[in-house]
Amino acid sequence: MRVGFIGDIVGRVGRNAVSNNLKYFINKFELDFVVANAENASGGFGLTSTNAIELFESGIDVITGGNHSFDKKDSIELMSKMPIIRPYNHFAGVFGKGVANITKNGKSISVINLMGNYSMPHCNNAFLEVESALKECMSDNILIDFHAEATSEKNAFFHHLCGRITAIFGTHTHVGTDDLQILNSTAYVSDVGLSGAFDGVIGMDKEAPIKAFLTGLKHSFKVNEKARTIFQMIVFECEDGKCVDAFKIRLIDSIDEVQIQRALHF
Ligand code: FE2
Repeated sequence: MRVGFIGDIVGRVGRNAVSNNLKYFINKFELDFVVANAENASGGFGLTSTNAIELFESGIDVITGGNHSFDKKDSIELMSKMPIIRPYNHFAGVFGKGVANITKNGKSISVINLMGNYSMPHCNNAFLEVESALKECMSDNILIDFHAEATSEKNAFFHHLCGRITAIFGTHTHVGTDDLQILNSTAYVSDVGLSGAFDGVIGMDKEAPIKAFLTGLKHSFKVNEKARTIFQMIVFECEDGKCVDAFKIRLIDSIDEVQIQRALHF
């Protein structure tokens, strides 16, 4: 069984990167499921219903989130109607689910969304909460989107769970890391990297963040609309819950220049 995972989709540029390219890669690599983090898909903050429908129509099966899961007013209604999850380790009483169990054509996958604790909104301890999330998984094939800031926290999380999970992929920083690997049958990368504007500052127009660093004052961020576009996706293959192969697809602007990075396999 083969699965695609797309990191943070940022704004219209990111949605277009997905709608222009995903179906091609689903066919090319015969993907059974596609999971994507879309908490930044609408204007860089949150996800609207129109944009959620657009992403599902592009071929995504499950949408994960993070610190921006509740930014848009229709998020709660969306989560109740569509396969959209938010971090499992939110405090009790927060709407939504942190685990999705999906079955298609006789194949299944369970997706867990968790948020890190370093430099992120207050939430329960991800390292402890993952144990109860695992009890809700109905498939042996388990993918975790660990939405976190610190590479050290993501790395420790991977080694803590290595051998028990099919794939653990980091999201949130928007900058892809080059540590894609398979260790003890678990695929891991610290951050998948964004799909969206390649030239800006983490997918946003670069002027506002530069001004913010120069002055120490807040400036409102906008999605970079004029930039080169990057589409990034991890593809992994699994058998009975064990990852046997993984690689990353990277594409800037044109479908003719697809770059493939194979996972280190230990
Ligand atoms: Fe985030």
